[in-house]
Amino acid sequence: MESKEYPGKLTPFVVLTCLVAATGGLIVGYDIGISGGVTSMDPFLMKFFPSLYRKEKQNQSSNQYCTFDSQILTTFTSSLYLAALVASFFASSVTRIFGRRWSMLAGGVSFLVGAALNGAAQDVFMLIFGRILLGIGVGFIGQSVPLYLSEMAPAKLRGMLNITCQLMITIGIFSANLINYGVSKIEAGWGWRLSLALAAVPATIITIGSLFLPDTPNSLIERGHDEKAKEILRKIRGTDDILEEYSDLVAAGKDSKKTRHPWINIVKLKYRPHLTMAILIPFFQQLTGINVIMFYAPVLFKTLGFGSNTSLMSAVIIGLVNVCATFVSIGTVDRLGRRLLFLQGGFQMLACQIILGTLIAIKFGTTGEGTIPKTYAAFMVLFICIYVAGFAWSWGPLGGTLVPSEIFPLEIRSAGQSINVSVNMLFTFVVAQSFLPMLCHFKFGLFYFFAGWVIVMTIFIALFLPETKNVPIEKMILVWKAHWFWNKFIPDKNEHVSTKEMAMI
Ligand code: BGC
Repeated sequence: MESKEYPGKLTPFVVLTCLVAATGGLIVGYDIGISGGVTSMDPFLMKFFPSLYRKEKQNQSSNQYCTFDSQILTTFTSSLYLAALVASFFASSVTRIFGRRWSMLAGGVSFLVGAALNGAAQDVFMLIFGRILLGIGVGFIGQSVPLYLSEMAPAKLRGMLNITCQLMITIGIFSANLINYGVSKIEAGWGWRLSLALAAVPATIITIGSLFLPDTPNSLIERGHDEKAKEILRKIRGTDDILEEYSDLVAAGKDSKKTRHPWINIVKLKYRPHLTMAILIPFFQQLTGINVIMFYAPVLFKTLGFGSNTSLMSAVIIGLVNVCATFVSIGTVDRLGRRLLFLQGGFQMLACQIILGTLIAIKFGTTGEGTIPKTYAAFMVLFICIYVAGFAWSWGPLGGTLVPSEIFPLEIRSAGQSINVSVNMLFTFVVAQSFLPMLCHFKFGLFYFFAGWVIVMTIFIALFLPETKNVPIEKMILVWKAHWFWNKFIPDKNEHVSTKEMAMI
């Protein structure tokens, strides 16, 4: 597939706006990282889940696989993702009708209130209600920020700029891991309050930031502000020579304005490839099992017999690997392409999952009884790190934000991104909710279960995902038209692709 370049350069203005918007990712990441650590802190368990705390203390020598199997504890973690799922559908309309930045603002404000409620929580109700507000924030941010980034970025750097959002997610997770580690040392036992309340910091950045951000040219045109769109386009591309890109955006905008019902549209046959990706990519991303590690690393390590402190420390190490490996993706995605990273990452995760399952099987067998020596435990942490690195330069950034936000035509982009976010949230919820009971029943086989899914998704990518690197976002139709399987769904005539371009495929 030929790439296409519009005139212009990467301006400091576009870098700045994308950086501010990407801080929305901090919010998403902070949540992912914070709950696992907090739920492994004794004072937190004693206050909100006393029966679980007693069980944990009494059960030290019994089946390790089942110690933490508590539905109310998992509800605390996963309530956020259900709220985000629902919110992302509302976010879709706000993003489309009012523009991308209003969704970001709404997300930031809801998140601020949620953080305050959580930090001040007196009972489980306040705790879960606060988490629902955080979830609404995550739904709005997750829906709007990736779209914003993909629309602002010049095509040849879209991968890099878009992945800054995932980078912020990983920084959010890492900061949460560090904060959990730090506050767990507060002897008076209120450290968990600080962990939960500090979510207000990233929320403040995106809330204030979104007040100053310009909207994207694509969204401005879609809403009839053509002159403003031209002005922004000149500013972000750093040139007056924007006519070609502008007319492509206007053509896309025309289609979009005709589309009164993106939700009905997206089920049309010609959007079948897009719909399939919007559903399967986030589904597969969660079935890599990544959030088992992100949410439950401290709990998992405690299960394996690590002390509370070592467990939180190991989570910090994993968080750091996650951040560093994301840079690999940023540096390579627009040169090596999306497919290569997906395939390589898939193989790496698969190998690690098989090794980890086997290491746990050797020590705990099916009874769940046993202890592990220190060097053995260190090996396990090492393989978890290699697994996380594989995820962090493939399915993390590409499956989380990049590919789903760049493959949709404007007329269904907002709806498509909502589907992506809600499927992501639904399966984040399912994994969060079912991990502890699954560990209790599948035992070490849980790692093989996720390994099986990684095989399926890697084959799927090899066969069905076309390469999208360097292709302008409003010309993506050419990619589908050139694909061996999806081409039959794409009509031969398209208003904003010239016959010459169609013939080039
Ligand atoms: C995923 C999250 C995951 C994170 C890990 C994101 O792309 O959507 O579920 O926790 O990556 O870095």
